[in-house]
Amino acid sequence: MKKKTTSWFKEAKLNGEKITMLTAYDYSTAKLLDEAGVDSILVGDSLGMVMLGYDSTLKVTMEDMIHHTKAVTRGVKNAMVIADMPFLSYHISVEEAVRNAGRLIQEGGATAVKLEGGNEMVPVVEAIIKAQIPVVGHLGLTPQSVNLLGGYKVQGREVEAAQAILEDAQLLEESGVFAVVLECVPDKLSALISEKLSIPTIGIGAGNDSDGQVLVVQDMLGTFTDFKPKFVKTYGQIGEHTKEAVRLYIDEVKNQKFPAKEHTFTISEDIIEKLY
Ligand code: KIV
Repeated sequence: MKKKTTSWFKEAKLNGEKITMLTAYDYSTAKLLDEAGVDSILVGDSLGMVMLGYDSTLKVTMEDMIHHTKAVTRGVKNAMVIADMPFLSYHISVEEAVRNAGRLIQEGGATAVKLEGGNEMVPVVEAIIKAQIPVVGHLGLTPQSVNLLGGYKVQGREVEAAQAILEDAQLLEESGVFAVVLECVPDKLSALISEKLSIPTIGIGAGNDSDGQVLVVQDMLGTFTDFKPKFVKTYGQIGEHTKEAVRLYIDEVKNQKFPAKEHTFTISEDIIEKLY
């Protein structure tokens, strides 16, 4: 399999090949996803909720993102690793945004960064791309704006809001992003945006007509159960399997069934006797 590049994303859209993206935050999971053949791995700031137990993504720092991005890139050979820019890492100044994007590439080993927002982010996007760093946009429900949006709600259901998302997507494309994530937008809006853009759209809660799909890996494997958004499909009950395995382990340890002979190192009786 060949390493996925930004040109591959472009070709996939041209060829009508759907793009697969999943999140990962650690070495072993990233390695499994890569070996299974996923096209891209997003080190999402969703790690704040699913790995660190925060109630939003707002507390995630650059240090958190670099730490997890490093772990992921060590496990990946072929998928493109995209790292999320966390809250406030690109809002204060264009210079800081470029420096922080650069750290995710230079220290984290990611190939590209993702950031949330539309027209207001154009100068930031352009500056990061000028520094030769590929950028993915993120529109619709942008979780870092949860307090302004008033909750995690579907976006773009009214004409004005839908028009704004479409225009933002077009502006981001003009600014040079190579893909745009559309989160929690109606399916027909996502289909229209995907038709109008020449770069791929990656949907999450955006219906079946975007050019690709992304899910949070803990959601699709059933290992994060605090809440389940409508758009999530659980492909594996790994959370339940984990609990079953742990219950069996507890039982076997309590009843001295584990470790068995095959898990045990031995020594000759003669040697042991000399120790008494
Ligand atoms: O942080 C994340 O996991 C994301 C995806 C939900 C797109 O941004």
